[in-house]
Amino acid sequence: MNNHIDEETINKIRNNVDIVDVISSYIQLTGAGKNYFGVCPFHDDHKPSMSVSKEKQIYKCFSCGAGGNVFTFVQDYENISFIEAVKLLADKAGIPLAINSKITKKEKYQDYLDMYELANKLYMNNLNTSLGKEAREYLKNRDISPKTIKDFEFGLSLDNKDDLVKLLNKKGFSTDKIEQYGLCSQNTYGSVDLFRQRIIVPLYDLKGNVIGFSGRIYKDNNENKYLNTRQTVLFKKGELLYNYHRAKDIARKKNQIIIVEGYMDVVRLYESDIKNVVATMGTAVTKEQISLIKKMAKEIVLCFDGDGAGEKATLVATDELLKVGIEPKIIRLEDNLDPDEYIRKNGRQKYLQKLEHPLNVMEFKLNYFKKDKNLSSTLDIAKYVNEVIEELNKMDDPILKEITIQKVSEEVGLEKEVIKDQLIALEQNKTINEVVKKEEKKQNKYEKAEQYLLYHMVNNNKVMKQYLKNTIYLPTLKYRELARACKQYFEEYGSINIADLMSYLRDQDTLKTLLEINSLNLKEEYTKEEIDDYFKIIQDYNYKEEIKRLKEELNKTTDLDKKISISNQILQINKKSKGDE
Ligand code: CTP
Ligand code: MN
Repeated sequence: MNNHIDEETINKIRNNVDIVDVISSYIQLTGAGKNYFGVCPFHDDHKPSMSVSKEKQIYKCFSCGAGGNVFTFVQDYENISFIEAVKLLADKAGIPLAINSKITKKEKYQDYLDMYELANKLYMNNLNTSLGKEAREYLKNRDISPKTIKDFEFGLSLDNKDDLVKLLNKKGFSTDKIEQYGLCSQNTYGSVDLFRQRIIVPLYDLKGNVIGFSGRIYKDNNENKYLNTRQTVLFKKGELLYNYHRAKDIARKKNQIIIVEGYMDVVRLYESDIKNVVATMGTAVTKEQISLIKKMAKEIVLCFDGDGAGEKATLVATDELLKVGIEPKIIRLEDNLDPDEYIRKNGRQKYLQKLEHPLNVMEFKLNYFKKDKNLSSTLDIAKYVNEVIEELNKMDDPILKEITIQKVSEEVGLEKEVIKDQLIALEQNKTINEVVKKEEKKQNKYEKAEQYLLYHMVNNNKVMKQYLKNTIYLPTLKYRELARACKQYFEEYGSINIADLMSYLRDQDTLKTLLEINSLNLKEEYTKEEIDDYFKIIQDYNYKEEIKRLKEELNKTTDLDKKISISNQILQINKKSKGDE
């Protein structure tokens, strides 16, 4: 739990800022009175699908389901922690925070940030000295302009054993700390800087603080091309995207983000005035990176290296993105070139043309399946067609399906019907699965009752009170936990307020459930009958479960008396449930 600021203060801050004012300082809101609307910044959209309620002091997006109170908005928009959002708004409201509020991650590691800032300055300065001549030449030969060097804060580590350690020691950092934060290593002969004779590329966290470095060799020696800060408390490569803090706003505006593999690719695109670009830094895209990407723009363009490894990486990333509902656009570069090399060889204009006409996932995959196959060999044709059919089976768009079948059938000289029949056979399997799923859904009328009931509970004291009077047990764990939290909240505060409830629920999962409930598109108004009905449906579930349990017990026992007693109990419950109807 990171509940360092007490609940009362949090509510006070929330009551002293108006969500409409705060959100309109980030995005444009229109409207008046109770409800305001704006374009949701959490997914890319042009329609005003986000509504902000002045009365309830909450917002929700009808399109992507984002929602919460003023704290969650600031937290998500600024990509900061809950506590940081509270602090930011406390400042705005002019409310001093209790001194006992514990330190945040940032303050806790302020010395880390200070250390990296100092190191960054040293490296940047080195590059401008006479000892940096060779490195400057190298960058110049790569067509990297002084402006870009400055913007990306490139630096240089000199050919000395412990320049950085000495400097940092002088500034009061112990060598142990420097080692702990990943900038040197210690052995029996003393301490050694991590980076020597490398061009330094600073790596930033999401907010733009330097938290790591990558060092590139710039003259021929047998060392690894890049050397990186190892994982530290603040630096986790897989959670970052290179250039994120500079690109995110531009990407949001353009509604497009280009993903490349390397630093130098970012730099080249940037030089070419294409600034909505981030790099994965050469590793497979992680969940964290995908969630960052998702927030930046609707159109995601993958432009990895043109070689086989880049193609493989594109395939993996594409499938990962598809899993979360994103269909990326894809650019493939000829002659094994990476974006940097491609632009240097063919020019910015050629690259822009590629960007104008990216491949869609199906086109990319067809090319991929065809690779290394000889389409005059029947065996290869069969392999190819089977791979295509597998892919078609995953697709929903009937038109795209038809077009693809047409294309492939012409390509390999196979009747369309053959491909279609095969696909239908596969799809029948899928249909069976869907029927099973539908059945499951039907059973879930309970779930709907739980959701609707919870929706009205968090929005209405009367319904909340009715819940407290009835002792019903919600079937679904997450809803049960939310109901329990609501109960606890209600008992503490005597009434329910969804905006405060949102900051009260510090448990991420329960908060998520509340946001899910809040994003249901329901009317505020309800009838008593409707609510009673939800209670009845859930009660009915409770009965059914109890009967199921008793029947199992009945089957297990051999004792006649017990059997009779259990049967009686079942009878009673059946009666009760009938009586309820
Ligand atoms: N990378 C790394 N460590 C390595 C090699 C690569 O961290 N030893 C990461 C870097 O982020 C690099 C990316 O993987 O930018 C892509 O690698 P590569 O294509 O080899 O580098 P480029 O960015 O193309 O760099 P350059 O053009 O200078 O070779
Ligand atoms: Mn390169």
